[in-house]
Amino acid sequence: MTSTKHRSQRYQLSEARQAEVERLLAAMTRREKIGQMTQVEYGSITPDQVAEWAIGSVLSGGGGNHGDGSASAWRDGVSAFVAGSHRSRLGVPILYGTDAVHGHSNVLGATIFPHNIGLGATRDPDLVRAIGRASALETAATGARWSFAPCLAVPQDPRWGRTYEGFSEDPRVVTALGRAAIEGWQGDQLERAGVLACAKHYVGEGAMVWGSAGSHRHPWIDWWDGWGAEWQIDQGDIAIDEYTLRSRHLPPFIAAIDAGVATVMACYASWQGQRIHAHRYLLSDVLKDELGFAGFVVSDWMGLEQVDADYTTAVERVINAGVDMVMVPFDFRRFIATVDDLVDQGRLTQLRIDDATRRILTTKARLGLLDPRNDVEAATSVDVVGCAEHRALARRAAAASAVVLTNNGVLPLVSETAVLAAGQALDDVGISCGGWTIEWAGGQGPITEGRTILDGLRAVLGANAVTYSRGATEQTERRAVGIVAVHELPYVEGGGDRADLRLPEDQVALVRHVRRHVDRLVVLVVSGRPLVLDAIAGDADAIVACWLPGSQADGIVDALFGAVADPGQLPIRWKHESTTWSVGHNVPVATHTAEVC
Ligand code: BGC
Ligand code: BGC
Repeated sequence: MTSTKHRSQRYQLSEARQAEVERLLAAMTRREKIGQMTQVEYGSITPDQVAEWAIGSVLSGGGGNHGDGSASAWRDGVSAFVAGSHRSRLGVPILYGTDAVHGHSNVLGATIFPHNIGLGATRDPDLVRAIGRASALETAATGARWSFAPCLAVPQDPRWGRTYEGFSEDPRVVTALGRAAIEGWQGDQLERAGVLACAKHYVGEGAMVWGSAGSHRHPWIDWWDGWGAEWQIDQGDIAIDEYTLRSRHLPPFIAAIDAGVATVMACYASWQGQRIHAHRYLLSDVLKDELGFAGFVVSDWMGLEQVDADYTTAVERVINAGVDMVMVPFDFRRFIATVDDLVDQGRLTQLRIDDATRRILTTKARLGLLDPRNDVEAATSVDVVGCAEHRALARRAAAASAVVLTNNGVLPLVSETAVLAAGQALDDVGISCGGWTIEWAGGQGPITEGRTILDGLRAVLGANAVTYSRGATEQTERRAVGIVAVHELPYVEGGGDRADLRLPEDQVALVRHVRRHVDRLVVLVVSGRPLVLDAIAGDADAIVACWLPGSQADGIVDALFGAVADPGQLPIRWKHESTTWSVGHNVPVATHTAEVC
């Protein structure tokens, strides 16, 4: 079935621009077209090689930082690659892509917004749109004009390590907020500091079966095993039928296309045993023909290698399935030569190469990259990175994302309260930000600029009213209220797959210890997903889910003091095995189905 009903009317090209795309296409050699289809990670190529090979895109993956990691070092690094592309024979600029998944999150000093799961709790498309816009401005200021965001996964199993990258287990929330994020990222006029969004990972992501990842996972992730990572469900198999796939996982992508999303990234997972990267029905018949997606499809990092043990066969299958640009990411020469040979052998058609290249060039034209007068770099400044206005927005988002799971009358807090505060996550920017922050898997401690929950408590209550001790070991004096933060340490992708979502023993012990020294106890949970809290539930007068609030975690304190008009609602059921919030607590829990945005 071919239909154009979802084809977006946004960002249409003028006839003159379309003609420019066709002129370029006609002028290109086959090698140059294949170059456009090639995306290389920034450490595996030089600006001169970008010129020589007419490369289409360069990326920074998680932790792919330039120089000292600052915004100005990024701007210098990215501009050098862009300048390289200007020196290529036809001068087609590269697209520089990056994982700006919660703000421009690799860059030191950038504003780090709550991860998507927290934004899902806000149910607030206007807020998410504003965050997309702020993130786009920070990203464009460093010269990168393509973000691998938003993630439109619909996570169904909190044991999955990427749960926090999804907005909600409810497709309606993902659809509304995903669309808003794209509108924010791309802006009304893409060529004016718009940043291309990337709807990822298409499609079915979040419905993989626990234990199915084993045989497919990246060969190169074995080093994770050293510290007990699971890779049990991430990149595994999606076993649902087509009806469920279409009704639960496709709607966010339909809305994304409708909003004019420029790019779509294929999902690592398989659907009913077949790798999505090589799934012609899903990538070409459904996405492009049926839904009318007119942008281009990019593969995920080494997703190609998972399709077939034979590299040539993998390239053939992935491109024939409908992938237009391949995130190689390392050996670009091998990739380009392989595609070239496959065309010689008739295993890839010139038509497919032209279609992929046309899609990429058209996207570049939409972004204004083919218009030399459109100098976005000159119009932007790195001063916007981490600016006060964006930080205020991030704080507001953190406040709106907090969800009160249970409250035995202790919340909202009142200002004249003596507080005993404990727990590492209360005063840890890295833990508040989670994965995909500065480094691929994030980190602990002061990894970038930010304000912690403790900073917020001290600001509101006055430093003297708050006694903080990470492990609460020094405390003897009794206090009215205890605030203990429990947490997950940062993780990323399948490295965060965890069968057991209970709190570690030392955190349970900390909660119990503080309980003995306070009249009322508030437990804050800083995590990427619902955890099993049975062990401490009886000790807490209130429990608040903070998700991964980002660099302005002090916003959580605004929520504790009741300064949020519209408090967060659960984006995903807080339920795991035997535990469901609702029993034994006198404040009913918002359920995931209660209200959509
Ligand atoms: C990179 C990430 C990338 C990952 C692959 C890491 O080494 O830094 O950007 O996403 O590999 O999953
Ligand atoms: C992740 C993508 C990411 C890419 C580039 C992959 O490992 O699955 O979400 O955009 O790496 O870093």
